[in-house]
Amino acid sequence: MAESVLIRAVQIYKSYQQGTGELPILKGLDLEIKEGEAVSIMGASGAGKSTLMHVLGTLDRPNRGQLWFQDQNLLEMGDDEISLFRNEKMGFVFQFHHLLSELTAFENIILPGRIAGLEISEVRQRAYELLHLMGIRERADHYPNELSGGELQRVAIARALVRRPKVLFCR
Ligand SMILES: Nc1ncnc2c1ncn2[C@@H]1O[C@H](COP(=O)(O)OP(=O)(O)OP(=O)(O)O)[C@@H](O)[C@H]1O
Ligand SMILES: [Mg+2]
Repeated sequence: MAESVLIRAVQIYKSYQQGTGELPILKGLDLEIKEGEAVSIMGASGAGKSTLMHVLGTLDRPNRGQLWFQDQNLLEMGDDEISLFRNEKMGFVFQFHHLLSELTAFENIILPGRIAGLEISEVRQRAYELLHLMGIRERADHYPNELSGGELQRVAIARALVRRPKVLFCR
């Protein structure tokens, strides 16, 4: 397993504007995540887990601090550049699957690859490979309302992996 640092957060501060005051949530957080590492974030409700995930996933900007992805300083990127970077390098799986109901499992999985304009034959092959890995190859042509809860989650995971992200956020 590679040992190189993939994500490095340095002295991250994040507070929310609440009425006339500031509500500090992340107060000088340092974190390193290595390539190939599985990290789970635990803490009491309201402790700031979602806030941290949003900052690490570049869905929200901290008030200050540094966020490195390998040798790239993410917080110095503009919004458009950071969106492209996020789409290419990061995958997201949410508690609710957010699959499109009018598309089959297979079509849902290939969608991010198609939006990215990747070679269609390669995306299709990757999708079938993921369906197989997830043990739902025979469910490729099922619509979301024809899948079990766990199958829906597996399709959502496959969709998040179709572009081969460097990091997968699950929440
Ligand atoms: N947009 C916002 N404006 C003001 N306060 C916020 C905002 N978003 C979150 N908070 C507050 O920040 C704190 C941290 O929220 P966060 O969602 O990160 O918690 P969490 O650790 O994910 O909690 P849970 O386990 O309940 O999901 C909470 O007390 C919440 O009320
Ligand atoms: Mg939360």
